[in-house]
Amino acid sequence: MILSIESSCDDSSVAITKIDDFKLIFHEKISQNEHSEYGGVVPELAARLHTITLPKILSKCEKYFPNLKAIAVTNEPGLSVSLAEGVMMAKALSISLSLPLIAINHLQGHIYSPFIEKEAIFPLGVLLVSGGHTQVLDVKSYGKLELLAQTLDDSFGESFDKVAKMLGFGYPGGEIIENLAKKGDEMAYDFTIPLLNSPKLAFSYSGLKNQVRLAKEANKDDANNISASFQRVAVLHLLNKLNKIFKTHKFQNFAVVGGASANLYLKKHLEKLCDKYNLNLFTAQMKFCSDNAAMIGRCAIEAYKQKQFVKFEELEVKPKFMLYE
Ligand code: KG4
Ligand code: ZN
Repeated sequence: MILSIESSCDDSSVAITKIDDFKLIFHEKISQNEHSEYGGVVPELAARLHTITLPKILSKCEKYFPNLKAIAVTNEPGLSVSLAEGVMMAKALSISLSLPLIAINHLQGHIYSPFIEKEAIFPLGVLLVSGGHTQVLDVKSYGKLELLAQTLDDSFGESFDKVAKMLGFGYPGGEIIENLAKKGDEMAYDFTIPLLNSPKLAFSYSGLKNQVRLAKEANKDDANNISASFQRVAVLHLLNKLNKIFKTHKFQNFAVVGGASANLYLKKHLEKLCDKYNLNLFTAQMKFCSDNAAMIGRCAIEAYKQKQFVKFEELEVKPKFMLYE
């Protein structure tokens, strides 16, 4: 079994996964709701909470320690002080239990989220939509990937967070906006789709955010309609660029991963687009869309099989590290 730790942002999570059949033996996550009132994650607070919650979760899985073959931990990218808590905990466990350490890239972890307790399928096109990233990747196999498109400014999830804040709601904003949108008219505001006529394979959400700001200033109490119209255009922007990518990249399999892949409006429209191109669409179970240690553990099995271990004195936190060259 592999014990995995995820603490890259505001979720503390630990999992134990069987190496031979990918079975998830233990998984627990504590999300930090304490950031809600600040409209975003406060790094110092996040780090302090990880020091409290990670040992609490770890104490529940002590009985599995004799079965462990390795300790895996997210070391990149993310908030440096948050990453450091998980990494220190993993180093301590690796030394005290005399087990090898595996460093996992958080984005790589998300890529494996549809394949928790399953065999992974490659090659795979991936849309990664989280709080920190909006990327389309061509993943050939574990660790071999090519970036096809990414955002020039805000990420998809971040734009939901910022719109929620603008409308006077808490953090994280994704689910809040999705729920408000259900009660609104998505055609109420004619926001323009970013980069619609640009051949560039890239995303941009800062202009849309400003359109929302103007709509909010003009119509103070119209959160439902603003949310619905914003969500429609935010998703259409993704679909528009994916449509371009699918014309030139002949994928057979495609996955949508990351915290914002929990958005059902996005999933519904992506399903339609994938049907049009005859693509199999893979999604993670709802509970594995947002940050969790189960995806880190699943990914770590690949690293373990390739004997990709790292010495505890050499394992570093890399807050900005990217997946591709
Ligand atoms: O992957 P994740 O848990 O953390 C990062 O690695 O960033 O993603 C969190 C992001 C937040 O920006 C959150 O607002 C967004 O995912 N999110 C959503 C939804 N649920 C979470 N965005 C849109 N719709 C949702 N239902
Ligand atoms: Zn994430």
